[in-house]
Amino acid sequence: MSQATNQSWGGRFSEPTDAFVARFTASVNFDQRLAPQDIQGSIAHATMLARVGVLTDDERDAIINGLNEIQGEIERGEFNWSVPLEDVHMNIEARLTEKIGITGKKLHTGRSRNDQVATDIRLFMRDEIDVIEVELKRLREGMIELADREAETIMPGFTHLQTAQPVTFGHHILAWQEMLARDHERLLDCRKRVNVMPLGAAALAGTTYPIDRHVAAELLGFDRPTENSLDAVSDRDFAIEFTSFASILLMHLSRMSEELVLWTSAQFNFIDLPDRFCTGSSIMPQKKNPDVPELVRGKTGRVYGHLMSLLTLMKSQPLAYNKDNQEDKEPLFDAVDTVRDCLKAFADMVPAIEPKKASMYEAARRGFSTATDLADYLVRKGVAFRDAHEIVGQSVAYGLKSEKDLSEMSLEELQQFSATIEQDVFEVLTLEGSVAARNHIGGTAPNQVRAAAQRAREALIALKAGA
Ligand code: ARG
Repeated sequence: MSQATNQSWGGRFSEPTDAFVARFTASVNFDQRLAPQDIQGSIAHATMLARVGVLTDDERDAIINGLNEIQGEIERGEFNWSVPLEDVHMNIEARLTEKIGITGKKLHTGRSRNDQVATDIRLFMRDEIDVIEVELKRLREGMIELADREAETIMPGFTHLQTAQPVTFGHHILAWQEMLARDHERLLDCRKRVNVMPLGAAALAGTTYPIDRHVAAELLGFDRPTENSLDAVSDRDFAIEFTSFASILLMHLSRMSEELVLWTSAQFNFIDLPDRFCTGSSIMPQKKNPDVPELVRGKTGRVYGHLMSLLTLMKSQPLAYNKDNQEDKEPLFDAVDTVRDCLKAFADMVPAIEPKKASMYEAARRGFSTATDLADYLVRKGVAFRDAHEIVGQSVAYGLKSEKDLSEMSLEELQQFSATIEQDVFEVLTLEGSVAARNHIGGTAPNQVRAAAQRAREALIALKAGA
């Protein structure tokens, strides 16, 4: 064998790899993160090979013991990662051979790095999806409890960021929760397609050894082996699905973040975030900045970027494996880390949100938020909606001039605009009356919010039982 070429494939080469090319093509600096999954996959592969008689039981045991020792070395930080050995797979295999001799070289029988790496990523994604799901559930639970506690707390609801109609704070938080419920479904749906085993596809066409892919799939907890070897080693659509789930989730979190940032401002003054989620300014002593939501809002961009990277990475790739695919890992790893951290930040923070009820109430009282209620009142008294709209518009114009909310006007003042208005109008002009009147499934009435919180709780429990 020629000197200084990679031992695993150097046989046909007549000169060593250019030093820069070796560094350029190596992935070990980032794919070493897949070591636990690589070892797990190799143990299953060796177990299966012994089961079908390709390895002896002694060979299998030597391989498994060696791999377990290597796992320990890696965990203790004693493992010496080598860039000339290219990637996590060849680093581990080389160390195995160093430890147990020629038997180590038999591990790669009937497989290729192409099916090996596809298997490793899927195992990794499955593990990470499960961790992410725990945080997502914790966040949803926190929102449901906050919403239940604040089912009667009144705040202004907005459209165009202009005061529109009063809603309850609990209703607003349950709107967030609904977004996350759909994200949760998307995550679990993605997991189904992640949890399929490429191992056995070998380089691209399958292998001539009498492998039993069902055995390996079962050992690794996969639902089934992949159907087509070419597809198995080449596609990374599951990674694209994950980053698209992640992008939509972060889009949602960025909207919540934006609202938290607005709400903590002196201008809104709707909520307080405990100091532990905020930082100060090095120059302005009075500042308390909502850094956590700001940062989540900012991190959304990098996740969108990873989705674009992966889509573009796969675009127009011919079958089967191409080296391009080595570029899937860094975007995926960063997307996983970002999603997990943002969810953790939110799950910790949401239950600690302190609504400033008086201030929210006051904001809802200003801004004619019960104008629609007045129009609906007139309609109930027989006025056509368009006419009612006009009457209320005039009342609002008067209120702007006289600096009075509708509920602050006297009956005589209101009757200037319509003789149909009577004393009972004040029941609908109160904020409490306004929210209580939206009393149907999906509405903002406090009893509806409590019922919705209860349904959300049950849906979450059912999801846990089903998963
Ligand atoms: N490091 C490679 C990757 O991440 C492993 C597969 C390499 N296969 C090959 N034939 N070069 O995709």
